[in-house]
Amino acid sequence: VKQEFKIFCLVPDLPAPADIVSICEEIHRNRWYTNFGPIATRFESAMAKFVGRIEGESLGAACFSSATTALELMLRAMQLPKGGKILIPALTFPATALAVINAGFEPVLGDVDANHWCLTADTALAVHKRSQLACVMPVSTFGRPLDTKSWLEFQADTGVPVLLDVAASLGQQSIPEGLSAVFSLHATKPFGVGEGGLAVTSDKELLARARSLSNFGFKGSAGVVQAIGTNAKFSEYYAAVGLRQLERWSDLEQRRKQVLGCYLKRITCLGGQVELQDGIGDFVPAVFSVAVNGANAGLQAAFANAAVQTRFWYLPLLNLHPALSDLQVSGGLQNSEYLARSLIGLPFHSFLSENDISKVCRILSDSV
Ligand SMILES: Cc1ncc(COP(=O)(O)O)c(C=O)c1O
Repeated sequence: VKQEFKIFCLVPDLPAPADIVSICEEIHRNRWYTNFGPIATRFESAMAKFVGRIEGESLGAACFSSATTALELMLRAMQLPKGGKILIPALTFPATALAVINAGFEPVLGDVDANHWCLTADTALAVHKRSQLACVMPVSTFGRPLDTKSWLEFQADTGVPVLLDVAASLGQQSIPEGLSAVFSLHATKPFGVGEGGLAVTSDKELLARARSLSNFGFKGSAGVVQAIGTNAKFSEYYAAVGLRQLERWSDLEQRRKQVLGCYLKRITCLGGQVELQDGIGDFVPAVFSVAVNGANAGLQAAFANAAVQTRFWYLPLLNLHPALSDLQVSGGLQNSEYLARSLIGLPFHSFLSENDISKVCRILSDSV
């Protein structure tokens, strides 16, 4: 039976058709619709500046058909030891693991931090001492920006390269020189264009190899396959939406900040029953998951009874997906397992009213 919700968990906020007409006309005049066209090139330059605006002055950016394909092709382009182990958190969207497997590597699952719910460089170091890692892919859980300083140090100390899966944190996460990262442009992300992935790195050769893999492994103009690639190119139309989204970003972010502020004011009154992701408020998350001390299943039912949609984001944990049940775990998953019983994603998007937020918080306070 289809559940009719009065308050939806996530509503994408993309530019209106009227706002992209002129740039679509430009695409049409160019007769250039994909294959690294002028609009995608313009978008990539703008995004390199946007992502690196605090730290990464000389970042390069390349767009792909999705963050999943961008992660897979960046891993393949990193020239890691064949079949090597790649550490990822157990609490992440399945695409993190799928990109590793599809690129020909072996995922190893590590626990996340109890407070900010991300994999840490200390955990990675402990895993690396037990079994040699080829790479680490930390994830910006629910869009919480990662501590890039600790990952730069990890890379320097161990020589193990790091690829940040920052799919959900475009607009929140700045990338410094020396780290490579992949953002998602999927419609459900705060900075959505429809479908797409954005890889950023100061390693221009790495970016060129990944880009070539997205175009069948062709290099140069002759259409000669130099590596076994695929088709993971980015459409000019999505780039057009992206350029408009960039113009709307500060307004969009402001509205999301207001919604978050409204929530935080009310939730902090509930005391310790509702745990928030550490640092929230200093950043605006992509999705708003809170932890309710082992009681997420009952709470979802209470919300559903009131026609409020909630989601169990990044659940089940990776090793509980049937096709991923044989993944290796290193060092136990105590925090992730607690979070699997406790996390619930509340409605969070730019169209929520104060009344909606009051209603959600009332149900929350009545049920915890
Ligand atoms: C952590 C993480 N990694 C990767 C992805 C994949 O992104 P895309 O849908 O653009 O392939 C997502 C998407 O939700 C994600 O949350």
